[in-house]
Amino acid sequence: MVSADARVLSSVVASQLDVHARYGGVVPELASREHVRSIVPVVRGALEQAGISATQLAAVAVTEGPGLVGSLLVGITYAKAMALALEKPLIAVNHVEGHIHAVLLEARQQGLPVQYPAAALVASGGHSHIFLMPSEGAYTLLGKTRDDAAGEAYDKVAKLLGFGYPGGPLIDQLAPHGDASKVQLPIARMKGHDLDLSFSGLKTAVLRWVEERAMQEEIALRKARGSGARLTVPEWLQVTPPGTLNLLAAFQKTIIEELVRRLERVVQEHALQTVIVTGGVAANRGLRQVATARLPVRVLFPTPALSTDNAAMIAAGAFPKWQRQQFASLEMAAKASLTLA
Ligand code: KG4
Ligand code: ZN
Repeated sequence: MVSADARVLSSVVASQLDVHARYGGVVPELASREHVRSIVPVVRGALEQAGISATQLAAVAVTEGPGLVGSLLVGITYAKAMALALEKPLIAVNHVEGHIHAVLLEARQQGLPVQYPAAALVASGGHSHIFLMPSEGAYTLLGKTRDDAAGEAYDKVAKLLGFGYPGGPLIDQLAPHGDASKVQLPIARMKGHDLDLSFSGLKTAVLRWVEERAMQEEIALRKARGSGARLTVPEWLQVTPPGTLNLLAAFQKTIIEELVRRLERVVQEHALQTVIVTGGVAANRGLRQVATARLPVRVLFPTPALSTDNAAMIAAGAFPKWQRQQFASLEMAAKASLTLA
């Protein structure tokens, strides 16, 4: 829940990670079931935490897309019912724009609003998109992944190596224990002005590395230790030999390099004032360090809690629409492949 003066009044997140962990990725059917299970307690919790009653709300915001249609529908149906019962306007928000608004919200909170033109990298489990933002609310797509999203690459490599789901946070914590210079991984070349990304070559290179070293036993041991239990970093380190830690370090370094190089290019070409890095992968400590050190402009990340999916970013994304009285009708539908630009 977000107030008109850009304060987060409450942020309640129902994590489904434990439900999906044993499958090594999000299972759509289970995701919608968990949404159904969680939506009433989450909305109640958000109202309680904010200390306000539903009748005091100015509007109800909901994610329109992109995403898994079953999960989107749960939110949309519930939000429509709430808006109708409370006689409040309904506001449809793009999930990707929501990630950008997590940063705009926090910048406003700190009294340091974003300066434009800006570029925004949205890197999550479903997206690796770079947008140019000439002004707030205006987006031009400069590049996107041709195959896997950055977070998806983290999750797939973690699964391949017998680590739990999601892979990003764990690899982020294990990578500093390895030496990236010991493993050579390919880096996709940027052709001309093309800012598109690609992570499938990197994933294949990791697979080849694993096959050449006959790591099946090591991987099976890790899978057995990790299944059903949430291991701590020291526990994962006990079942991860130095060579594998080097591989993780090299993998993380390559992903960061792919992202930061493109951002460097964008800064050069567009005389930017600000670079926004957001989405689940923006929680990555390595990416935060390297992007901040290398980019010669103000680089803004959401706080870790607002990097991964949350509802505060959707409420924040709704705010400019509320100011413009741009409301959704009760006929609004879920748009699984909604784009921002
Ligand atoms: O934005 P998000 O919560 O959900 C989507 O919209 O996809 O992003 C989740 C993704 C997952 O792929 C996860 O592995 C990745 O973000 N992620 C990270 C980190 N924390 C989450 N990737 C790298 N480093 C992290 N610290
Ligand atoms: Zn997301």
